[in-house]
Amino acid sequence: MEKLSREKGWELLCEYTKTPALRKHALAVEAAMAHFARINGEDEELWGVVGLLHDLDYEKYPDEHCHKAEEIMREQGIDEVYIRAMKSHGYGICTDVKPESQMEKVLFTIDELTGLINALCLMRPSKSVLDLEVKSVKKKFKDKSFAAGVNREVIINGCEVLGMDLDEVIRETIEGMKEKAEEIGLKGTL
Ligand SMILES: [Fe+2]
Ligand SMILES: [Fe+2]
Repeated sequence: MEKLSREKGWELLCEYTKTPALRKHALAVEAAMAHFARINGEDEELWGVVGLLHDLDYEKYPDEHCHKAEEIMREQGIDEVYIRAMKSHGYGICTDVKPESQMEKVLFTIDELTGLINALCLMRPSKSVLDLEVKSVKKKFKDKSFAAGVNREVIINGCEVLGMDLDEVIRETIEGMKEKAEEIGLKGTL
């Protein structure tokens, strides 16, 4: 497999994604992916870059999400491993590529969850992820009116496929996001 460096991945992301919030989302997913790679004894850079690029086409081609990204990644000669993972995050939504590898399953599960955590941090007095507790996330997870765009079902399904419980997935996703708190704009005032 031919790996894409973090530097090249970031360059490509920046070429197609100018919106700060979307870049931060990509960085948050990267951070969570790298953390999960570490706890799984897998390649942090590979998992991280997969996270970074998963929404590559979203800013420019929201209606062709996943499909345009595939085109772009193919033009760039990016390895199939990245392409398959990117497509599988849209399983049941915009693709029929089922998450199969551990990396794909994690991406599928944490994508929306990082969105929920981000929304929650931004409304906290500290505006920070650094002191965020699992139970606060659980509470907002159950409150369907909060960050209503976050698909809870996808996250629950993902946890099942991963064989991890929701608390554990939330805990590790927070840990990953903490590591990049500054870059993702969630250091807050702490
Ligand atoms: Fe997406
Ligand atoms: Fe995403």
